[in-house]
Amino acid sequence: MSVKTLLTNRTSLEGQVKVPGDKSISHRAVMFGSLADGITRIENFLPGEDCLSTISCFRQLGVEIIQNGSDVTVKGKGTDGLNKPEETLYVGNSGTTIRLMMGILSGLPFKSTLEGDESIARRPMTRVTLPLAKMGARIMGRNNGEFTPLTVEGQKLTGITYELPIASAQVKSAILLAGLQAEGETVVIEPVKTRDHTERMIKQFGGEVERNGDAVKVTGGQLLKGTEINVPGDISSAAFFLVAGAVVPGSDIILRNVGLNPTRTGIIDVLKAMGADFSIDAYEGESAEPAGDIRIKHSKLKGTIIEGDLIPRLIDEIPVIALLATQAEGKTVIKDAGELKVKETNRIDTVVNELKKLGVEIEATDDGMIIQGQQGLDGGTVSAHGDHRIGMMLSIAALLCKRDVVLEQSESIAVSYPGFFEDLYSLLGK
Ligand code: S3P
Repeated sequence: MSVKTLLTNRTSLEGQVKVPGDKSISHRAVMFGSLADGITRIENFLPGEDCLSTISCFRQLGVEIIQNGSDVTVKGKGTDGLNKPEETLYVGNSGTTIRLMMGILSGLPFKSTLEGDESIARRPMTRVTLPLAKMGARIMGRNNGEFTPLTVEGQKLTGITYELPIASAQVKSAILLAGLQAEGETVVIEPVKTRDHTERMIKQFGGEVERNGDAVKVTGGQLLKGTEINVPGDISSAAFFLVAGAVVPGSDIILRNVGLNPTRTGIIDVLKAMGADFSIDAYEGESAEPAGDIRIKHSKLKGTIIEGDLIPRLIDEIPVIALLATQAEGKTVIKDAGELKVKETNRIDTVVNELKKLGVEIEATDDGMIIQGQQGLDGGTVSAHGDHRIGMMLSIAALLCKRDVVLEQSESIAVSYPGFFEDLYSLLGK
């Protein structure tokens, strides 16, 4: 476990950073590149541990993948060309890898086993195994298929129409990936729109996908062709600096190449509602995923309510939004976010407990949290609890603390942002 002494009591952040590639898009680029015929070249791939797990799983399935930092070349094999892995597929900490892989493996003609770290072992999988079973998949796991290790015995699949009981892009994507191999049509109906990177990528690889209101439809047996993917920066990583810029007095920073897909920009809506001082310079021209530069300055903020359809558009940003709310005038309420309990950690508990250790007044509710505004932060020893986003949120919180802050399990940050501290220190002029 690494223990890190964090920088505290800061007066300003200045300059600019180019945030690393989007995690969700990087995973999908490797997956679709492997399933497609021909070569896929990925630029600005995120070389974080989660995405490296996806690469290593597809290498085990016989795909040749050349990775050089953020440049990746995938020599696609088509679904027919993937081989039975000799050993268990290890997904590390990555929920996206395991859930999307289940959709892919369900239709392949061999048996394979998936496993991850102790966080993955606690995360619910029936949300994926249940709809896949309806398509004909055979998946066995601990506790009737709820937990890892999971063994997938590939079968011939049949398309289904499935109404998602929860808003989850991972579940939607697993079903669509299975649907691409199934006989007939597969329709997924979402209760609330979630990130649509899978749908955009099917089109980028020359496939067809149709959206009709809440429903997304694919037809099985489509030919996907290798392509070039330029991954935009991850707004979920930019979020830590957006908040730092908004709350650390005297700050004025620019975040370059931030992904601006509207299914991901809930944090921008929150910053606006809170009265933050920012501007967006969106890049012009056709591209599968919109992106742009965001400039943000320190300003006075006011509390807000975050709920309903907004939640899936900022689900991964809630830990750092909770910190943002501590600096606003008045109270902020986050509700309808029960999904936080089944993330890398129970993020309602980890956010509330760790911020309380720094002296923050914050209360957990059953589906979110209530945060009091205009708070001074103190200091202490906190832990990431193996959760990258908790580690980064606490590192930004430390900037506001008057006393020393020590972060335990800081190594977990490499899951999604290996260069996080370098980028943070550059904005701090260190
Ligand atoms: C992701 C979807 C979200 C998100 C996760 C990445 C994806 O999870 O929290 O970090 O890439 O599809 P859910 O779909 O489980 O909400």
